[in-house]
Amino acid sequence: MNTARKLKRIHSIADFRAAARRVLPRMVFDYVDGGAGTESTLAENAAAFERFRLVSAAPADVSKRSLAISLFGGEFPLPLIVAPLGLASSFWVKGELALARGAAQHGIPWVLSNNASVMLDEAMAAGDGPKWFQLYVPPSREATKTWARLANEAGFEALQITVDTLVPSRRLRDIRRGFSMPFAWTPAKLFDVVTHPDWTSRIGPHGIPRPQLMFHVPWGASGAAPDMRTRLSPALDWDLIRWFRDEWKKPLMVKGLADPRQAKIALDAGIDAIVISNHGGRQLDGAVATIEILPEFVAEVGGKLPILIDSGFRTGADVVKALALGATAVQIGRAAAYAVATAGEAGVAHAIGLLRSEIDSTMALCGITRIGDLNPSLIRRRGGER
Ligand SMILES: Cc1cc2nc3c(=O)[nH]c(=O)nc-3n(C[C@H](O)[C@H](O)[C@H](O)COP(=O)(O)O)c2cc1C
Repeated sequence: MNTARKLKRIHSIADFRAAARRVLPRMVFDYVDGGAGTESTLAENAAAFERFRLVSAAPADVSKRSLAISLFGGEFPLPLIVAPLGLASSFWVKGELALARGAAQHGIPWVLSNNASVMLDEAMAAGDGPKWFQLYVPPSREATKTWARLANEAGFEALQITVDTLVPSRRLRDIRRGFSMPFAWTPAKLFDVVTHPDWTSRIGPHGIPRPQLMFHVPWGASGAAPDMRTRLSPALDWDLIRWFRDEWKKPLMVKGLADPRQAKIALDAGIDAIVISNHGGRQLDGAVATIEILPEFVAEVGGKLPILIDSGFRTGADVVKALALGATAVQIGRAAAYAVATAGEAGVAHAIGLLRSEIDSTMALCGITRIGDLNPSLIRRRGGER
């Protein structure tokens, strides 16, 4: 089926998930879709949005509306950011570039993971949208410094340090399917790919995607490390982040905060924005849903620090709830991953377009015309509390 016809049938992120499930080999779909441990955080991320209900302020004149937001001294047309997605080239050929171009069609930032299969110069050339970089901090400071230099020289406008991945998590779907690096074929994996011919005919000629970008920077004395366990620094604390603040002069974000008490430390450390995240339920199993703790973060920083948030956002209503509770913008992870797996750049652009119209209509039905006018009076907790 051609792309335009395929996308005509897709009306929600849930539709994109179903389409991705059909096209991707099970091991790749499970890598995208799965979570850590019992997947209780993954389930909680979805369930939590149901506890926050919207209270429309209608009647109101909503004939003129804007979804624009301000961040880091600039204006963005939508309160959305495409989150870093490692190994995106296993979803689509050069999937990272398709994500970048899809985001650029809407003028929203796209974050390149350093666990990517494309090089920095290719990434920078992909579309003319805002480009941010995400760093998994390696064990060596020398290597960390090199990443900052390379990302800066390449032209990335902002950087996110991910802090919720101090050690790798146990993702049982990946373990059971053998989706790990270095990749080794088994009869079950071969069967998996031959029974998904669309994916295989697209990706096959390019070979199994490897995180080349990760290997690009020497990992310290031992050189390139073979797997995730040795690629991450388990000694990532605020001292290191403060040190990094001096290495990276452009906007710096800490991604993966869950404890509201960390917000003030971030502010004092000169961080430009925080990203409340539980990594989409892929790291600490049993973690609290991000929307649940957002109000505490907002109370801690009192408007002094922009708050980005991700984990579990699938609809415009989810996004509006977070903005009403005080978030500045929302990062989308799997929503973009399912879309790029389904239809590459066009899929990503379509997914963002769907979210844009859902945000717009939710806001309008709430009687609100500007993102800045969303506020906590539009939210009731199930059970009646604010
Ligand atoms: C397939 C996949 C790969 C990811 N890779 C990275 C990564 O390389 N770096 C990172 O900081 N977060 C990574 N994340 C987490 C996302 O950036 C984001 O925090 C998460 O997906 C948000 O939850 P959601 O998927 O429910 O939207 C990944 C998530 C997924 C689904």
